[in-house]
Amino acid sequence: MEQEKRGQWASNFGFLMAAIGSAIGLGNIWGFPYKMGANGGFIFLIIYLALVSFVGFATMLGELALGRKYGMGVIGTYRKISEKYTWIGWLGWLSGFFILAFYSVLGGFTVRYFFGFLLEMFSSGAGFGGMDSGAFFGSYIINAPVVLLYHAIFMGATIIIVMGGISGGIEKFSAIAMPTLFVMVIIVVIRSVTLEGSFVGLEFMFKPDIEAIKEIGLMRVLKTAAGQMFFSLSLGMGCMITYGSYLSKNENLEKNAMIIPIADTTFACLSALAVLPAVGAFIYQGVEGVSFGAGPGLLFVTLHRVFSVGMGGFMGNFFGAFFYFLVFIAAVTSSISLLEVCTAYFIDKRVAKGLSPDRKKITLIMGIIIFLLGFLPAMDGLGSGRAGGAMIDIPAVIFGMKEVRVAFDCWLDFYDMISEGVFMPLGAMLMSLIIGWKLKTTLIKEEVESTPGYQIRAYNFWDICFKFIVPLAMFFVLLGQLDDFFGLGIF
Ligand code: PHE
Repeated sequence: MEQEKRGQWASNFGFLMAAIGSAIGLGNIWGFPYKMGANGGFIFLIIYLALVSFVGFATMLGELALGRKYGMGVIGTYRKISEKYTWIGWLGWLSGFFILAFYSVLGGFTVRYFFGFLLEMFSSGAGFGGMDSGAFFGSYIINAPVVLLYHAIFMGATIIIVMGGISGGIEKFSAIAMPTLFVMVIIVVIRSVTLEGSFVGLEFMFKPDIEAIKEIGLMRVLKTAAGQMFFSLSLGMGCMITYGSYLSKNENLEKNAMIIPIADTTFACLSALAVLPAVGAFIYQGVEGVSFGAGPGLLFVTLHRVFSVGMGGFMGNFFGAFFYFLVFIAAVTSSISLLEVCTAYFIDKRVAKGLSPDRKKITLIMGIIIFLLGFLPAMDGLGSGRAGGAMIDIPAVIFGMKEVRVAFDCWLDFYDMISEGVFMPLGAMLMSLIIGWKLKTTLIKEEVESTPGYQIRAYNFWDICFKFIVPLAMFFVLLGQLDDFFGLGIF
């Protein structure tokens, strides 16, 4: 009865599309390509794949299993395990809260760029005011009212879908959006790798760059890859616990826990193939101001230039609109999962009290609060135009430590650091320790085998992952993080 009230996926395919949709997002299209390029190319890819294999699959299985077993969102799940773990649930919940606040601001950027190229198709100068890519981006990010407007549009879309419920909103949207996304990215990949000079980008991507690894340091590369993996797979903050809680016992958890990371990683590689060869081609062709640079600049300045100057004309505008629409769709299927993590807590509470879930109202209120939290990253111009950064004083107030101040250029960095940098690896470490040592991995076995007629295949592997590999890997990630904040110089 409770389960009925909370909602359930209508089919395993629908669940997979929603979960893969959550995983695939800005992290894949924007984060993965440049992190791979800047951190040793092919060697980074190998490290990333190893992390997915030994940490990603197990964490995914653990989250789905806990969610389905306890049938609650992230806070409810940890509370059911033990009252004293409730705070771990809150860590996850807060991660969702902070990530969505800045994610929606960036999502708004993609909407702006989509409209921009769309308008340019019909009238030159209508979309971007005839400005150069860098100039446009610079003027856009400091134009707070406009950034807020697009942040509102993006958040509005997210709220509407989540209001529709699990099968009626999230699943329905994802089941159409995700297959479309795969087709779209393949079209962009084909265009990208067939441009003259694309080999420059392919080389940047795939060349095993030992020098870069030496220079950056293996531990740091490992930390970057691990952070990227968590963010990209939506792990460590209870998103998959929440989605798992809407799964029926008939669905095969072990298989699902493999499919989601494989699909996400495949898409990350496809995104790299969509972005980097195009950038490389225009470096080769000598288009000015195109480089493999990192940060929002790659997605919003370099790629804008690739479409507007590199390709140019109607086709450039067409592919520009097409590409940013793709990024928008990928971002929305992620943002809905973030909002769902936050709303599920209140829905669970009401259902436990025997009240109606009131999903629409809760979603709307939660969405508005997160929208307001997004004002800070939306209005600080990503830290541009402030030598030293105005943001810097705030963590200094919080932590009272000088060294901490230099770590953040802007609010977006700060939100990202709390969630992706600290709460998520901490959440994954604690979850895995709880599963491995307190609840024991037999719990995972029982939950997986509660699917009629199914026998767990890789029990020993999961056992070792939960007990040793995941906690140890996360410990190093957290150590690396502390090292960065406080300049300890360990790595
Ligand atoms: N995985 C999403 C991305 O790659 C972001 C995300 C993180 C979504 C955590 C949900 C939970 O963009």
